[in-house]
Amino acid sequence: MRLTVPSGLPDADLTAVDLFDPELYATGDPHPLWLAMRERAPVLRQTLPDGRGFASVTRHADVRAVLRDHTRFTSRRGTLLSILGSDDPAGDKMMAASDPPVHTRMRLPLNSVLSFAALRSREPGIRDVVRRLLAPLAAGEPWDLAVAGAGFPMAFTGALMGLPEADWPELTRLTTMAVAPQDPMFGAEADDGSLVAAHHELFEYFAGQVQARGERDDLVGFLKRMDAGGRPLRLDEIVYNCYSLLLGANVTTPHAIAGTVQGFIDFPDEYPRLDGDPDRTTLAIEEGLRWASPANHFMRYAVADTELSGEPVRAGEAVVAWLGSANRDERVFDDPYRFDVARRPNRHVAFGTGVHYCVGAPLARVALRSLFGEVVDLVERFHPAGPPEHLKSNFVAGVRSMPVTAELRPGAADLLATATAGAGPLPELPAR
Ligand code: HEM
Repeated sequence: MRLTVPSGLPDADLTAVDLFDPELYATGDPHPLWLAMRERAPVLRQTLPDGRGFASVTRHADVRAVLRDHTRFTSRRGTLLSILGSDDPAGDKMMAASDPPVHTRMRLPLNSVLSFAALRSREPGIRDVVRRLLAPLAAGEPWDLAVAGAGFPMAFTGALMGLPEADWPELTRLTTMAVAPQDPMFGAEADDGSLVAAHHELFEYFAGQVQARGERDDLVGFLKRMDAGGRPLRLDEIVYNCYSLLLGANVTTPHAIAGTVQGFIDFPDEYPRLDGDPDRTTLAIEEGLRWASPANHFMRYAVADTELSGEPVRAGEAVVAWLGSANRDERVFDDPYRFDVARRPNRHVAFGTGVHYCVGAPLARVALRSLFGEVVDLVERFHPAGPPEHLKSNFVAGVRSMPVTAELRPGAADLLATATAGAGPLPELPAR
């Protein structure tokens, strides 16, 4: 999805808005529509040709209200447009598709293993991976940040879950296929076929992982042992949550990286402002998360008749919260279409809000800080080496190709050359 200033005017025609169409995010630009919707139609309804309908909210306040208030808006029936209208089979079995108190029983134990404190010890390992990831930059050739970055989350989430490195490229492909089944790069069959095939393979893979394990000191082992409110999780619950954890990490983090680098390229005065200062890098990462908003939407169903921005919402209606729009809301962000590495405050909702606030946010932040800490040490400036290709998905705002070159700082090429010695480069996304 395009990330910068809207390419159209705010007087866009709102009668024909199609936010469901994945092509809008691949070759179009939702930003002028969102801008107009925030202004003129804060709750906008759309009916698909097959009769399924949903209401969209685009203002920061409404997006927060929908995501936060589980008493008014339930997650149990599913949270993604891809399953609009059919109840999610993972309802009440997977954190993301449940409400308190069922949600709380699964979530509380996981909060502790995925906290900053628990993850700090992993930072040196992640830094090693980051140098292997960045090593190809030393050659000075165009480097596809989207392809290389796609494999990065496996190196921290896959490692945390104890999944064998040989499986990482295929798991990366399957998780992307599960969220972008219409993208020609990942969709093997007709839309639904790809989604079903990806789900089937991932569930089967995790069932095998869970059943094959004895006592293991990794996240899969933790899910097997943990006390979920007085009982252990059942096999289907473990499998659904493994799927959700891996998907949550794989389909978002690479696009946060790409979006941040895109910001550095489009606003060339910003990257030099980091000046090697870790605190500034931390702020820049938050701005990169706002800018990229890799999770583009989450959905809920209204539990009872209610209202949003003064507009009535009917019981049972699907309501889609567009995070990418909320993160450009001029009511909350000064100069929202400016990428500002020192933005403060930055009340972005890239990780959501409320009880479902991303459980992987500390892990993502540790990984992004490791990555951009290294980048700032090694890279003087990024240059585009070709136009980015945007992912065809209404859920993930991201790129499937983003060629760049990097001007390196003195001595960086030697550091990168030693990074791969012994370990070799990171596995990349397999070409289809
Ligand atoms: C930049 C990276 C990431 C972004 C932008 C992101 C975004 C989000 C958002 C917006 C939600 C809220 C969903 C909702 O309200 O329904 C969420 C939830 C979730 N995320 Fe992330 N995420 C990221 C990284 C990760 C990582 C690294 C993991 C795995 C370790 C992960 C696993 C999950 C899970 C399991 C949930 C559901 C939590 C719950 O329902 O309580 N995410 N994520």
